[in-house]
Amino acid sequence: MGINYDIYNRAIDIIGARRIAAKAENDRRFEEINQKIPEIAEVNSQLAKTGLEIVNVIRSGEDVSQRIESMKVKNLQAQELIRKLLRDNGYPEDYLQIKYKCEKCFDTGFTGGGQCECLKSVISALSVREMNSNSQIKLCSFDTFDISYFRGKTPEETSACRDIMSRIFTYCKSYAESFSTESQNILMFGKTGLGKTHLSLAIANQVIRKGYDVLYDSAVNYLMQIEKEHFGRDDSGRDTLQSLLTADLLILDDLGAEYDTPFYTSTIYNIINTRLNRSLPTIISTNLNHEGIQKKYDDRIVSRLFAIYQCLEFVGTDIRLIKRKMGEN
Ligand SMILES: Nc1ncnc2c1ncn2[C@@H]1O[C@H](COP(=O)(O)OP(=O)(O)OP(=O)(O)O)[C@@H](O)[C@H]1O
Ligand SMILES: [Mg+2]
Ligand SMILES: [Zn+2]
Repeated sequence: MGINYDIYNRAIDIIGARRIAAKAENDRRFEEINQKIPEIAEVNSQLAKTGLEIVNVIRSGEDVSQRIESMKVKNLQAQELIRKLLRDNGYPEDYLQIKYKCEKCFDTGFTGGGQCECLKSVISALSVREMNSNSQIKLCSFDTFDISYFRGKTPEETSACRDIMSRIFTYCKSYAESFSTESQNILMFGKTGLGKTHLSLAIANQVIRKGYDVLYDSAVNYLMQIEKEHFGRDDSGRDTLQSLLTADLLILDDLGAEYDTPFYTSTIYNIINTRLNRSLPTIISTNLNHEGIQKKYDDRIVSRLFAIYQCLEFVGTDIRLIKRKMGEN
């Protein structure tokens, strides 16, 4: 899963298909009108002739400014005549103008300012569709996060635990709402079944809807894929590491579940370090506690995680178990 170059390319194709469809529909209308309203066909062929004339004048080296002026006037008159003929024949007067789905970028996907809103929204729709094809993920929104699932061994512990988790929830929600590529990095740690994946997916869902390029998967899956590509055992032409290094938001779930190999360790370091250097936000979740992280990773990784990442320690009792006991799962 993830929002990657595949999705970007698919989105570009969709926008390109819109442009082709708009042109094809325009051609069809021209044919239709040329047949039904011969006067318009005549005006159009006159316009084409004037166009040719002007090209010849330019070629001959004569002064063209006057000719261009008179052609402009002719052109405007011709447009007016076409509009009138369309109206007289019961057509809307803009019937022969190309109807782009997006008038801002004429279905190119780009405006002077970069990606057009229409391209962003196609990317976002494709990404959400891909994420939601996994039904578990569909359930992971802020709305389905219920604080009353958090429990301790005593009422006091329960209340303290809900306080902590409410703060974490609020932090994550406002993180998602105000997300930008300048947002902070987050390290979620805590025991199993405490909602780390749930909250990181809730963030992912919302940030994707804002049109950002978000990558989410377990660290193990990413590392195995990167390893395959690195050692030439994958011919899909994908460059997963490159996508991870450049995504607007990267969510590495369940870091620490991978085997200890020099390749994995150096890849993890590369990802964390490169994204920090590029000031691109990363969210990491792990089952390991402070000690476990220190044991498993070398100091270069540990110091970056604890000094620079916003650390959120999840507390409570395994919610998977609680739900199972309550017969919900
Ligand atoms: N506050 C909550 N309200 C409702 N459901 C929750 C809540 N927290 C977690 N869940 C659900 O409980 C299950 C376990 O949560 P989740 O997978 O997010 O835990 P985790 O901390 O990622 O665990 P692990 O460390 O094992 O990966 C999921 O089905 C999740 O949707
Ligand atoms: Mg998890
Ligand atoms: Zn557009």
